[in-house]
Amino acid sequence: KRVAIFISGGGSNMVTLVDSMTGDHPARPVLVLSNRADAGGLRKAAERGVPTAVVDHRPFGGDRTAFEEALQEALAPHEPDILCLAGFMRVLTAGFVTPWEGRMLNIHPSLLPKYRGLNTHARAIEAGDTEAGCTVHEVTPELDDGPILGQARVPILPGESAEALAARVLEMEHRLYPAVLRRFAAGDRTRVDLP
Ligand code: GRF
Repeated sequence: KRVAIFISGGGSNMVTLVDSMTGDHPARPVLVLSNRADAGGLRKAAERGVPTAVVDHRPFGGDRTAFEEALQEALAPHEPDILCLAGFMRVLTAGFVTPWEGRMLNIHPSLLPKYRGLNTHARAIEAGDTEAGCTVHEVTPELDDGPILGQARVPILPGESAEALAARVLEMEHRLYPAVLRRFAAGDRTRVDLP
């Protein structure tokens, strides 16, 4: 299977995905695409020999359809079978997502269905939750809402900051996403639950 990965920043999830696709793994990375030219993940992808592309969303202003047409044009030559969003910070419309449904994954830093959207760790702490975590799900047009393929749970330590929690959740993201992708690329949608 040919995997394209979308990033917007450091790409730590992308790195763990790329580094996991070796040996008898059923997938290989064919493209890392960023909506920002200054994304640190682009260099990490290039260092790993993965082709990269940048489609900056800003020239398109509010025209999401035109931006998404540019995304599709950047993807097409690489003929990806699977699309992984990994720290990608642009909302994609149904026009882009629907043709990819069933072949597109995202990782979200909360235990969905709790805390869709942003600032998930601060919200969990604020709510007095005792645990947080991350979720890999299939992408559907509804934001952070598709079928869940895996979750990892992390205890919230008393008094810890959102930044400290985010760092511990990110460690679990780096374990969860590769585990889910390996199954998904082999056609296995059995949930992964960590720890
Ligand atoms: C992190 O906040 C992570 O929780 C979320 O995307 C952000 C950046 O991740 N999935 P990455 O280091 O760019 O993969």
